[in-house]
Amino acid sequence: MISKPNSKFLIRSFVLLVGCLGMLLSSCAHLPLGTTVTDGVYQHRTVHNSDGIGKFYLGREIAQVMGHRGAFWLERPSREWEERPSQLVEALNLRPTDVVADIGAGTGFFSFRLSPLVPEGKVLAVDIQPEMLDIITFLKHEDQINNVEPVLGNVTNPNLPAAGVDLVMMVDAYHEFEYPREMMEEIVRSLKPNGRVVLAEYRGENPFIPIKGLHKMTQRQVRKEMQAVGLVWQETKDLPQQHLMVFRKDER
Ligand SMILES: C[S@@+](CC[C@H](N)C(=O)[O-])C[C@H]1O[C@@H](n2cnc3c(N)ncnc32)[C@H](O)[C@@H]1O
Repeated sequence: MISKPNSKFLIRSFVLLVGCLGMLLSSCAHLPLGTTVTDGVYQHRTVHNSDGIGKFYLGREIAQVMGHRGAFWLERPSREWEERPSQLVEALNLRPTDVVADIGAGTGFFSFRLSPLVPEGKVLAVDIQPEMLDIITFLKHEDQINNVEPVLGNVTNPNLPAAGVDLVMMVDAYHEFEYPREMMEEIVRSLKPNGRVVLAEYRGENPFIPIKGLHKMTQRQVRKEMQAVGLVWQETKDLPQQHLMVFRKDER
């Protein structure tokens, strides 16, 4: 007959298990739990949101990157009525000759909607995941679209031409940038005089928008982060779930 474990044994085992888990977690992070380390403009914290990377910029935790396996979600048919992407694209007021950079392009959901609006210009579809760029390349050839160029960026640099872009657009992507300061400095360098930077982020002020907290941003936070690289807020247009925020370089 198997005897029942007594309560002391159970408590000891539980304490041992919690201790081992704590040691494992802290040894993975190479830091004791609860530590904050500052590294230039960033802070690293061992205690953080499970959807984030434990790295903070101007008080915001950076979200984990949405992997390429989520490509189907980006292309979901319900997106049209949930987010009104056609309204977003129209609100950009593009000129036919504009060079647009769609940074964090994913499957090219927006790149391909922008391309007919810039027939004499082009769309640079930038992403850090080669698998996303493979999807864009496939769709580009399938639909014979000549003015969308896939560009492989890295976590600090979108690899755009200096002073070569009229509009940089980031839809639901900026909050995932692992190095937002470095990325934005490169983005500012890529702008032509009078160039614009446009961000669409799910509204962080609204708890009822069914998106994880770190994948939303408040207007206040976006403005703080853009101001840090010398961008001046111009206007915000509201979409059903997102803020569409427009910035320009401070040319003074
Ligand atoms: C949630 S998806 C959004 C895709 C697309 N903008 C859309 O709305 O359908 C975010 C994308 O940003 C990309 N990304 C994350 N960090 C990036 C970086 N530093 N530079 C370029 N792309 C990045 C990810 O690989 C991912 O494809």
